[in-house]
Amino acid sequence: MQVIKYVFQPHGDDRGQLVSLEEFKDIPFRIKRVYYMYDTIEGVTRGFHAHKSLQQILVCIHGSCKIMLDNGREKKVVPLEKPYEGVYVPNSMWREMFDFSPDAVLLVLASEIYNEADYIRDYDEFLEYVKNCGEIGCV
Ligand code: TYD
Repeated sequence: MQVIKYVFQPHGDDRGQLVSLEEFKDIPFRIKRVYYMYDTIEGVTRGFHAHKSLQQILVCIHGSCKIMLDNGREKKVVPLEKPYEGVYVPNSMWREMFDFSPDAVLLVLASEIYNEADYIRDYDEFLEYVKNCGEIGCV
């Protein structure tokens, strides 16, 4: 399973750092929604779902956390520890986010507005959904 990790360009100078993310340039889709998680309680795992069509990029802009990606055949854990790195989460990918540091802020750039109908929250249903997907995902 190929995991696409992004290293964004920090525009650093003697004042500090700045990262800018533009749709279709730094981010491979139109950004229709941005949300973020913070004050995550120690030991908590979030996510436990996949999306039928939503694509996302996750950036831990402060602190650190880990992302477990599962395409139904293989699982990979991606640590997010720098504010200039992100991981691409395509559609049809089960995700779990865990190991949040107390100061972690996990920013999510999403290709669609919130739509509960796009969620697959049952793992067995997810396995059935991706059964016929190829290596590059489901269309
Ligand atoms: P939830 O789906 O449980 O988060 P995750 O699975 O990623 O840990 O979302 C928590 C709550 O926030 C839930 O009541 C739905 C709501 N929510 C929105 O209203 N808009 C959003 O864009 C998201 C991601 C969640």
